[in-house]
Amino acid sequence: MYGLSSWNRASAGALLTAATRRKSMGRRKAKRRASEGGSQMRGKTAACFFRTIQAALLPVGTAGYLMAVPKLLRYSRKTAVSATLFASLYTRYMQHRLGTRPDEPAARLMRVMPNVSRPGFRLQTAPTLVGHSLTGYVPRIYRYPYPREAPLRHQQTARTSLYDAALQRHLPGIDQLVILGAGFDTRAFRLPPEERVRCFEIDKPGTQAFKTRMLKGAGLATDRASYVPADFQTEDWFGKLLAAGYDPGRPAFFLWESVTMYLDRGAVEGTLRRIAGTASGGVVAFDYFSAELIASRSLLMRYARAATRFTGEPLTFGIDNAPPARERAAEFVGAFGLALEEHRNFGTETRRRAAPAGFAVAVVGRARSVVPAEPDEEGEA
Ligand SMILES: C[S@@+](CC[C@H](N)C(=O)[O-])C[C@H]1O[C@@H](n2cnc3c(N)ncnc32)[C@H](O)[C@@H]1O
Repeated sequence: MYGLSSWNRASAGALLTAATRRKSMGRRKAKRRASEGGSQMRGKTAACFFRTIQAALLPVGTAGYLMAVPKLLRYSRKTAVSATLFASLYTRYMQHRLGTRPDEPAARLMRVMPNVSRPGFRLQTAPTLVGHSLTGYVPRIYRYPYPREAPLRHQQTARTSLYDAALQRHLPGIDQLVILGAGFDTRAFRLPPEERVRCFEIDKPGTQAFKTRMLKGAGLATDRASYVPADFQTEDWFGKLLAAGYDPGRPAFFLWESVTMYLDRGAVEGTLRRIAGTASGGVVAFDYFSAELIASRSLLMRYARAATRFTGEPLTFGIDNAPPARERAAEFVGAFGLALEEHRNFGTETRRRAAPAGFAVAVVGRARSVVPAEPDEEGEA
């Protein structure tokens, strides 16, 4: 069975051409030099210098953000290409740049996207990249695997680790990966070639056509996945998946990262019902917002709701997350005949207060022991 790091090594090897491999080796060496420099500036000192640099460059980063976001939102409003996919891609890009989770396809895609303001992006990323290059410090928000329980603002990074780990755990038993609402997910490039896993990606037609255009523009292969254009809310995505060659008689891993919150209840429940009817041993991994967070009147959530409504991808669906959230998640998937295998909270849960978001892995057709709740306690803040 593949270890996580060998999975990454094998996948990185598979996706890099000779030229990019040379380039990436050079970058890795530079990074090692930087982190060796940083390791002289150890732990708290490096963190302290890093945060000072970030604070000093905050106006630069803010200016970049203010240049980048309007362009992204306007482009989505005009073309109906998803704007939210950018947030996931941004995190993976930063992890790649900081050397924590190599993802060359993500970096190449980021470079060709017409909805990204180049000067804005450079300014926006400067505080972290400059701080890192001078101190070697990697802030917790970009570490991989993510070291412990995540606050809500780290959920993008934490969930990537959790999805990767769940997929890696189940890879030996499945040969079909279905990425629902795939956006600019690059896992098709990370699959170890010897595992013979067939990958399907489903997304809205406009966003998917945009992705294949960007893959070509970035010089990346478009045959790593079968692209299935479908809208979960208005189309029979499962029928289209069957037509694309998915075999319902064999278990599949359905990876549903950062999508449920943009769907209505009918689409979320209909999708889980469909998955529950697939071959025994299949798996679905998804993350979700709590109903409370969706309805929250905080400034941040008001902004998030307004921005996503503007681009036609409104934040809609949340799960009743009344403590203990693990039980709510088990009940939620159990209603479709799925068995909860793993559950994590994003953000703090107390006896009285619900965690704002969560991550769940559920299996088809048989009850399985639940993965222990306690995360690794390695790493530091
Ligand atoms: C936040 S992005 C996540 C992308 C990807 N899963 C990732 O984590 O990188 C949300 C994705 O869900 C897709 N999506 C939203 N509503 C959808 C719908 N009704 N049908 C199909 N895809 C949808 C969007 O197009 C977008 O690609």
